[in-house]
Amino acid sequence: MISLSTKYMGIPIESPLVIGASNLSLSPNLIMDAVPYGIGAVIYPTLFEEVAQIKDSTEVQQRKFEKKQHEKRNMFPFVRHGDLYAHLANVRDLVRRLDIPVIGSLNCVHMDSWEYYAKALEEQGVKGLELNFSMPNLSWSYSSRHKEQEQYRIVERVKNVVSIPVSVKLSPFYTNLLHHVKCLDRSGVDGMVFFGNPMLPDIDTQNEQLLCDLEVTTEAISHRVFPFIGKIYPNTVAGLIGAGGVRNGYDVLKMILSGADAVQMVSTIYRHKLEYIAQMIGEIKEWMFQKDYDKLEDFKGALSFENRQNRPLYSRKGYVDIMVHSTTVSKKYPISTSHTEG
Ligand SMILES: Cc1cc2nc3c(=O)[nH]c(=O)nc-3n(C[C@H](O)[C@H](O)[C@H](O)COP(=O)(O)O)c2cc1C
Repeated sequence: MISLSTKYMGIPIESPLVIGASNLSLSPNLIMDAVPYGIGAVIYPTLFEEVAQIKDSTEVQQRKFEKKQHEKRNMFPFVRHGDLYAHLANVRDLVRRLDIPVIGSLNCVHMDSWEYYAKALEEQGVKGLELNFSMPNLSWSYSSRHKEQEQYRIVERVKNVVSIPVSVKLSPFYTNLLHHVKCLDRSGVDGMVFFGNPMLPDIDTQNEQLLCDLEVTTEAISHRVFPFIGKIYPNTVAGLIGAGGVRNGYDVLKMILSGADAVQMVSTIYRHKLEYIAQMIGEIKEWMFQKDYDKLEDFKGALSFENRQNRPLYSRKGYVDIMVHSTTVSKKYPISTSHTEG
């Protein structure tokens, strides 16, 4: 009997397919419909500090908000006029209606707020928290080290005030992701979500405008994630989770072969609807049947750095080999020229 049960930041779940934070989970009915197709858990959309505190976030209000935030002692009395209560009530409702774990997601500006809202989400019955660090952090005024240390402090402080597991959702933009992962792991985080598709603007060349609309992932981009997971596994206590560009059962398998416990997905569900989840589960099970695997643990991390055979591919040697053999590309895509080779 093939089992797809796994752990998500230590929480037992029945399937490695997890619905990532998105508008999908704003509809409890939709998620309830998705569960029988094979969803293991769901992340509720991120509670952003700004949204929690200010409903109409115009620039003027935003400036006032920033000023207020610096008066830390007076901060929380202002919470009442935001969208916070609606968000928390929706989270509680989803938790109440689902049998699968609901995870809360959080993104704050100030240290006190991370603790405060983490506690508020825990009180709604979420089984775990995702600290959403996936926003690219670019600044002229501080070093990457400064930002990374801030993230360890956030994890430690949140872990101090909640008793549920805590994960972090990371962007691919770190100077040295492995070192950061090692320090995050030491700070006690229970799960790490590697997100390969951070929301960056596009450019409309016709109108010479930046486009900031959120779009679903259409490209095959899971390879932006699983090589990192493969390099990291099994060197963390925290469970590893892949997110971004999971389009079918085989993309899920690639993540697990690299060492992931589970994957998050959103776009594929928007594009192919809920029934498609069952097809993905079918693809995973069929592959496992063909390979004679009974459970995910049988092959989790088989293609990671842990396996000695794979090490060259995860190292400088692998990079150099790829570059040296890049003539295969010219052979595959020949371009004819009018000149004769001399
Ligand atoms: C409509 C939509 C809303 C999203 N909202 C959030 C959010 O609130 N917080 C967050 O961390 N990620 C959010 N995401 C990103 C997803 O959680 C997920 O990481 C991302 O879509 C990559 O996976 P995919 O390629 O399967 O879509 C959102 C994505 C979409 C498409």
